Amino acid sequence: MNILVTGGLGFIGSHTVVELIENGYEVIIADNLINSKIEVLDKLHEITGVKPIFYEIDVTDEDKLEEIFSSHEINGVIHFAGLKAVGESVEKPLEYYYNNVVSTMALSKMCIKYGVGKFVFSSSATVYGDQPSPLREDMELKETTNPYGETKAMSERILMDVAKANKGFAVSLLRYFNPIGAHKSGLIGEDPNGIPNNLMPYVAKVAKGELDELNVFGDDYDTIDGTGVRDYIHVVDLAKGHVKAIENLSKGINIYNLGTGRGTSVLELVNTFIRVNNVDVPYKIVDRRPGDVAICYADPSKAERELGWKATLNLEDMVRDTWNFAKIG
Ligand code: WQD
Repeated sequence: MNILVTGGLGFIGSHTVVELIENGYEVIIADNLINSKIEVLDKLHEITGVKPIFYEIDVTDEDKLEEIFSSHEINGVIHFAGLKAVGESVEKPLEYYYNNVVSTMALSKMCIKYGVGKFVFSSSATVYGDQPSPLREDMELKETTNPYGETKAMSERILMDVAKANKGFAVSLLRYFNPIGAHKSGLIGEDPNGIPNNLMPYVAKVAKGELDELNVFGDDYDTIDGTGVRDYIHVVDLAKGHVKAIENLSKGINIYNLGTGRGTSVLELVNTFIRVNNVDVPYKIVDRRPGDVAICYADPSKAERELGWKATLNLEDMVRDTWNFAKIG
């Protein structure tokens, strides 16, 4: 089966490409390299022995998409391509709405035109807004706290309506929690351009000495140690979840949380990173970051029940693999 992976050179996309190839799928990658590097293509070749077909295109460009759909028999799409920095989305809402929502519409249009019946969408726990954890797929979605989250919620609604109107178009909406870690080879991992917004890559840069110290955004939350609690999931577990989703996708609308179901505080994560990797990560407590929620973690039981998928890698694996990639890169 041929799977088109948009954003396939990015952090989660590249790890998913590895799992798809290792499960016998043919992969075509479309990526505009705005938040990824062309070198990842050779790394994927090195890891899997296969060099995926690659198109450097913007997924909002229907004509460019048409070149791909008219040249290859595509059996399924996994749509990762999108801007994903929460803070940046507040500053540049139009860029986020255009890129993230128009790309979803353009891709869906091509799928309907060319009879592609499987669409897996990279969504986010952000769509739940500030609701009590554990978060379940049947919860009503609340207003999100930023344009990035809104683009994910809008894309979910568009895909659900397209699936209702086209019986041959099945969608799987995968709501990620906090993906961290890296492939065990250390060849691919999270390598954001510039100063990282997210905790794990920031910690890795402090450990490498590229950044002076970590700012911990608040220690006055109602949590085990006052710092924010999140559901960190190894990116390889997340990638395996996508293979299960595409394998089990046959009809209608399917929604799954991809998380571990366990909450970890900022300081628990930092201290685990320090202990496992025997490195120093200086940090200081500063004010809370606007828009942050105190606690966010998944109820992942639906994915386990319906997809036969469950995260298996633990926090030590996540911080060890993060550092193994960071110190090579
Ligand atoms: C985690 C915790 C921070 C940085 C976001 C998006 C989500 C997904 C993952 C795309 C929080 C604290 C962080 C730092 C800190 N993105 N922190 N100092 O905000 O849970 O989720 O990224 O899919 O959609 O919303 O992740 O890594 O930014 O923060 O103290 O320098 O670490 O306050 O408690 P977040 P994060």
